Amino acid sequence: MTFQRSLITAALPYANGPVHIGHLAGVYVPADIYVRYLRLKGKKVLFVCGSDEHGVPVTIRARKEGITTQQVVDRYHALIKRSFADFGISFDIYSRTTSETHHQFAADYFRKMYDAGQFVEQTSEQFYDPETGHFLTDRNIRGECPRCHAQGAYGDQCEKCGATLSPDELINPYNAETGNALAKKETKHWYLPLDQYQPWLEKWILEDHKEWRPNVYGQCKSWLDGGLKPRAVTRDLEWGIPVPVEGAEGKVLYVWFDAPIGYISNTIELCQAQPEKYGNWEQWWKQQDTRMIHFIGKDNIVFHCIVFPSMLKAQGYNLPDNVPSNEFLNLEGDKISTSRNWAVWLNEYLDDFPGKQDVLRYVLTANAPETKDNDFTWADFQARNNNELVAIYGNFVNRALVLTGKYFEGHVPECGELTGYDRQTIEEFCHVKDTLESLLENFRFRDAQKEAMNLARIGNKYLADTEPWKLAKTDMARTATILHVSLQIAANLAIAFEPFLPFSSEKLRSMLQMDEQIGWEDLGRIDLLHTGAKLGEVSLLFEKIEDSAIQAQLDRLARIKADNERAARDEALKQWRPSPIKADTNIDEFDKTDIRVATVLDCQPVKKSERLLQFRLDDGMGGRTILSGIAQSYPDPSVLIGKQVLFIANFPPRKMMGIESQGMILSAVDADGRLVVTTVSAPVKNGTQVG
Ligand code: 2FM
Ligand code: ZN
Repeated sequence: MTFQRSLITAALPYANGPVHIGHLAGVYVPADIYVRYLRLKGKKVLFVCGSDEHGVPVTIRARKEGITTQQVVDRYHALIKRSFADFGISFDIYSRTTSETHHQFAADYFRKMYDAGQFVEQTSEQFYDPETGHFLTDRNIRGECPRCHAQGAYGDQCEKCGATLSPDELINPYNAETGNALAKKETKHWYLPLDQYQPWLEKWILEDHKEWRPNVYGQCKSWLDGGLKPRAVTRDLEWGIPVPVEGAEGKVLYVWFDAPIGYISNTIELCQAQPEKYGNWEQWWKQQDTRMIHFIGKDNIVFHCIVFPSMLKAQGYNLPDNVPSNEFLNLEGDKISTSRNWAVWLNEYLDDFPGKQDVLRYVLTANAPETKDNDFTWADFQARNNNELVAIYGNFVNRALVLTGKYFEGHVPECGELTGYDRQTIEEFCHVKDTLESLLENFRFRDAQKEAMNLARIGNKYLADTEPWKLAKTDMARTATILHVSLQIAANLAIAFEPFLPFSSEKLRSMLQMDEQIGWEDLGRIDLLHTGAKLGEVSLLFEKIEDSAIQAQLDRLARIKADNERAARDEALKQWRPSPIKADTNIDEFDKTDIRVATVLDCQPVKKSERLLQFRLDDGMGGRTILSGIAQSYPDPSVLIGKQVLFIANFPPRKMMGIESQGMILSAVDADGRLVVTTVSAPVKNGTQVG
């Protein structure tokens, strides 16, 4: 099949917050690189995206900010759209799932599947809040994580240990907003019978799409191996697209049903607005000679490879040809999280680094989580800017242009006879086009960008080896040839880097006064600039980033970390419930434990131990030493000196860190894990028994 056009989609981000570097690295920069590459090649491309404005994340945000859901999506849709434009993500359309076109088209899509008998109806028990009378979605249910026992885990995931959960697994589930304990109630929903699509999906993915990235293929395989089950495509919620059938009052389409349909409705919106430019929407979605690629993050794989294709198949639409998905990007060793504000927000980045969009694009691609999770660090950001963009690419281009200005008044000098070394250099960069193409076609953007940087390295080395600034004193003809070759390399760099660093390429094109017609197919040519042509105004392509700018970012993250720790403690305290009463015991059992009163004479941290404090006690019986693992709760242990405490006197002695501990001091464990030593409220004789 020869494809006539490419439809490229990028996952619709939730309009529940600004976009951050994880979004950019995982989905939008790779998608944009690919689209720009295709456009540079003169291909017919449509690049579609928009905000995902339904679903629970937006309603949670609304309650958190004390505004309406509509206000939330309006605010973040505008902010996200702006950020993407600022970073040069070149969508043909960036619309939203609250649009009229989308509401109508998604409802129709459901209705068509409903009328064709493509859903099954099922009644099941779901969690609901008896006080508000509302059913709860997984995200709105919180409780204790069954794996790591963190408080406040979500019904679908524990943010502390990363476990994927279902609400039924949570210990003491409660409504995240009201704090009310939950009950279960029956409710009817419509399900997409994925089990019926299983044989077809197995063939389509496992046999026909072996070329998909291993992470994508592997996740699909494991879903298919586990056996697909029907999946509910409706929810009991107020925010969303009403289910367009009778008997569905108070129900909306599940966000994961309507969001991917947004790719289609946004195409429709664009084609209807500009039919002469984009044609009929159906050619993009139904004609077999259109190639569709979905760029997504790894948490979206099942929806784009299994659920949405089943919906498309059901209604006779085209299927994706590939679904390149990245792994996750972490930030300074920690998972990026919107709710914990652990992110570099694109809008804030631009406030701090105005005009440096390409630097971030470069670093995120150089470090792209293509095959495994990767880490963004500010140190690496600075190093890649200063040591690669500035020292190699920028340095080369700047030297070629400045020297041309100095010796040839800014005109492309004449190319004299080429030496063997010139020819060898030219030969090297002539191969770059083929290498880049093969990498880009296979979605290997990190390696492709590395290849483009190698071209800059070749140029930089060429200038360093030939030293035209020295030759200019004795041999102007040779100087002219060297600068001619260097300027041709610089023009090639403007093309090679264009998909990755569009702003810098535009600037370089203008400095070199390159003909607009010069495109991808010209890559590798050494006649892109004409002898005698006047160059434009020269300025630096990249600038050094100073330590102070990096330190400011690290300080900001440190403040956020401290805030988060405080918030986690507060949440744990708020959610704390007394543990269940232990099994019955009796006075005889209790009497076996000899609890007594003693005065703390001294209390010191144990050397080389983070946990232990060493107590010297007056126990009324000659004194004793006890070690207690409470050091982290008492940064200043001297506050305990002089206090009367309770200790167990008849535990056998035990050695820890070379010190014998003769008993145990009693402490209460607070909800946040802090230990508080129990004290006696009025003085009693040391050695007194407690019982
Ligand atoms: O994970 C997310 O941010 C989702 N909003 C992605 C939706 S992609 C598509 F289906 F629209
Ligand atoms: Zn957990």
